[in-house]
Amino acid sequence: MSVAARPEVLVAAALPPVTMAALETRFAIHQLSDGLDTAILARIPAMAASTLAGPIGEALLARMPALRIIANFGVGYDNIDIAAALAHGVIVTNTGGVLDEEVADLTIGLLLATIRRLPQADRFVRAGGWLKGAFPLSPSLRGRTIGILGLGAIGKAIARRLDGFGVAIAYHGRSPQADVGYPWYPSAEALAAACDVLIAIVPGGVATRHLVDAAVLRALGPSGVLINVARGSVVDEDALVTALQAGTIAAAGLDVYADEPRVPGALLALDNVVLLPHLGSASDVTRQAMGQRMIDNLAAWFDTARPLTPVPETLHLVG
Ligand code: NAP
Ligand code: 8YV
Repeated sequence: MSVAARPEVLVAAALPPVTMAALETRFAIHQLSDGLDTAILARIPAMAASTLAGPIGEALLARMPALRIIANFGVGYDNIDIAAALAHGVIVTNTGGVLDEEVADLTIGLLLATIRRLPQADRFVRAGGWLKGAFPLSPSLRGRTIGILGLGAIGKAIARRLDGFGVAIAYHGRSPQADVGYPWYPSAEALAAACDVLIAIVPGGVATRHLVDAAVLRALGPSGVLINVARGSVVDEDALVTALQAGTIAAAGLDVYADEPRVPGALLALDNVVLLPHLGSASDVTRQAMGQRMIDNLAAWFDTARPLTPVPETLHLVG
């Protein structure tokens, strides 16, 4: 296919090189970062976006009247203003289904690292601390009840793993799920009160902003552990710092932050947190699968007008 005949796609994200190379074999690529002129933007029908890049909103969509699809590199799509997309008749797709197990693996790793203080123990060995004495005994996962805040595709993959750990599981979502045997709690605070580990894995955005606030942390209690693999916006970061400093909860393991990649100094200064740089899906194989799903969504839309994984809000726009 000649370059001129290839469908045009705006890339508004930093994508893995392997994904970029695959995109370029099929599409004529324009990079948003190149500062495109209005005439080119106005004729482009498709966009590749990423959770980790800047927000996509009305300002850009208003300059792209021909845009019909945004394919997101990521399952979460809180980086895209869905109301603006709907107003412009733009379908949004995500990479649901190809990263659940990877993110669940990472979550279990972060949970164990946080409770058993693995990064702290590693630092202890490197600093020669072991030569002077034993590493202090850690809290334990044994006997705990794990609350999953958002028992969706990834939450269920986490629960499947935790079933094998012999711990109790409970959950909160907006409504109880008929086919789920774990106890459901009607609010994040009620779930936290019933648990001593809270794993946040809900979508980001306005509806879940600060769902984990000071009251939820108080309910989790002084032996409580918070794991956030959802979005930074889901947790009130100031309240979390206060709770960790005061011993309102025991520890936190965080993969996501309110203002990535900036992590508050107050969190960096604490010893009872494990901090990861948004690694949930960040393995070679899974990022490659996410890139392929993003490309397959674009290709399916160009070929058949039916992308593979449209997000629920824009499903009705799919022909
Ligand atoms: P999903 O299948 O749509 O599940 C989301 C769950 O959250 C559902 O069970 C839903 O239950 C619940 N939920 C939604 N809105 C809620 C609200 N306002 N209050 C309480 N519960 C709510 O999504 P997923 O694929 O599991 O992904 C979840 C999120 O994980 C993504 O959106 C993304 O933000 C995050 N994520 C992070 C990483 C990482 O690298 N750290 C990687 C992938 C995903 P109800 O509908 O019953 O409320
Ligand atoms: C990625 C994520 O870090 O899928 C998501 O929602 O947060 C992660 O998988 C991100 O999507 C990469 O853009």
